[in-house]
Amino acid sequence: LQQLLFKKPNEPPMVFHWFPVLGSTITYGMDPYKFFFSNREKYGDVFTFILLGKKTTVMLDTKGNNFILNGKLKDVNAEEIYAPLCTPVFGKDVVYDCPNSKLMEQKKFVKFGLTQEALRSYVRLITSECEDFIKRHKDFKGQRGTFNVPKVMAELTIYTASRSLQGEEVRNIFDSSFAELYHDLDMGFSPINFMLSWAPLPHNRARDRAREKMIQTYGEIVRKRRSGAVKKDSHDMIWHLMDCKYKDGTPVPDHEIAGIMIALLMAGQHSSSSTIAWILLRLATKPELIEELLAEQKAVLGEDLPPLSFEDLSKLPLHANTVKETLRMHAPIHSIMRKVMQPMPIEGTNYVVPANHTLMSSPGVSANMPEHFVNPSNWDPHRWDAGLAAKFEGQNDEDTIDYGWGVVSKGTQSPYLPFGAGRHRCIGEQFAYVQLQTILIAFVREFKMRNPGGSREIIGTDYASLFSRPLAPAIVEWERRHKEN
Ligand code: HEM
Repeated sequence: LQQLLFKKPNEPPMVFHWFPVLGSTITYGMDPYKFFFSNREKYGDVFTFILLGKKTTVMLDTKGNNFILNGKLKDVNAEEIYAPLCTPVFGKDVVYDCPNSKLMEQKKFVKFGLTQEALRSYVRLITSECEDFIKRHKDFKGQRGTFNVPKVMAELTIYTASRSLQGEEVRNIFDSSFAELYHDLDMGFSPINFMLSWAPLPHNRARDRAREKMIQTYGEIVRKRRSGAVKKDSHDMIWHLMDCKYKDGTPVPDHEIAGIMIALLMAGQHSSSSTIAWILLRLATKPELIEELLAEQKAVLGEDLPPLSFEDLSKLPLHANTVKETLRMHAPIHSIMRKVMQPMPIEGTNYVVPANHTLMSSPGVSANMPEHFVNPSNWDPHRWDAGLAAKFEGQNDEDTIDYGWGVVSKGTQSPYLPFGAGRHRCIGEQFAYVQLQTILIAFVREFKMRNPGGSREIIGTDYASLFSRPLAPAIVEWERRHKEN
């Protein structure tokens, strides 16, 4: 009956629900993957559900990923969905508070700022932040102990990302004023803000104050640097943006530099801290793999484990595959959304997705389907040994498009897309890999790790925020490899 009342002919099947506005919000929100997989069984790869009163059409598997992520600008739009949440956090005139063509230019600035030289310097800075962190953190005193992985990794990644990408001044104020501002700003991404981001609630007032203060702080950093009071001796993104010009010749205004830096901080922080937490939590269920990683480092770099360089990272495939496999099972972004701008027929079916529907893509579904990955619920970095990566790369090569910030596959058929695809694809992938591998290497060198009592259980996922992450607390036991000095 519900299908007849609410569904027009040619619309995809509607997921059954009892309450009109609430729809499937709760079941989706509690465990999106469970929701996707169980409805896939009932309805197939295309179905519609009600999310906070909005008709939301999900399209799964490689065809669905491609339909949504490579959709044309006239058909699908990201900023209509993301701006209410993001603009009060990032500020005016950046990312989703500007035409898409401007976002493409801003992405190009950042992408081109992440040069080999910059990344080379980041490996050194991240390594030294890790070493200092381990030395001074209260949870790492003595020869053995335990730590709450998601919490500790959130602290560490903020230091590593700010020291490298954000620059020394930002890193130095993170210990004091910035940490609080960051926290208040982050409240802007609370789930309640999917509906109430504009509301004058206390957390939104705090968010707005924090944004203004942050924009002001970045502005002061830029002005001080421009005045010549600070020597240009680093490769952080602020220096780079200060030299960038839009196609029409205008330099990037100070408030836009600030907005881009805030966006990078937010986009990078949650995704990276959740991923490194999952990496360590997964490794703690297979401690023998930690020893294998150490053996790889020793075999490739030398028994005495010399200081790490950027070039070393590409020589350590098991480390890279550990990151890769973790992103397959624990992609921090479980749902990617677009607004439908005009009716979109779906090839090979008689469905037409009407204008104003939200389209939802979840590349994490194809990455966990047995059709694409043997025994998908088994976390095994070695599955990537046998040329699996090469197989996917082949699928991406044929048809490409240049978005100005990089050449991206147009018709991606890969089931593995943790960084998205198309014009909104991630530009932080390389930075994320550099950061995650460098932290992983530092921890493998310093510690043996295992689950409490040697258990092989893995903790569940917290889907309550925009980015998914391990449920906290998630405690792991560590033992120092050498005597503490
Ligand atoms: C976009 C994932 C790290 C900056 C995206 C998208 C995904 C993603 C799936 C596409 C979103 C969409 O299509 O709506 C990840 C993962 C990361 C990561 C899994 C780490 C493990 C980073 C880092 C930065 C960053 C470190 C910054 C340095 C961005 C930006 C976009 C983006 C600027 C573009 C948004 C747009 O065009 O709409 N990321 N990301 N990401 N990411 Fe990342």
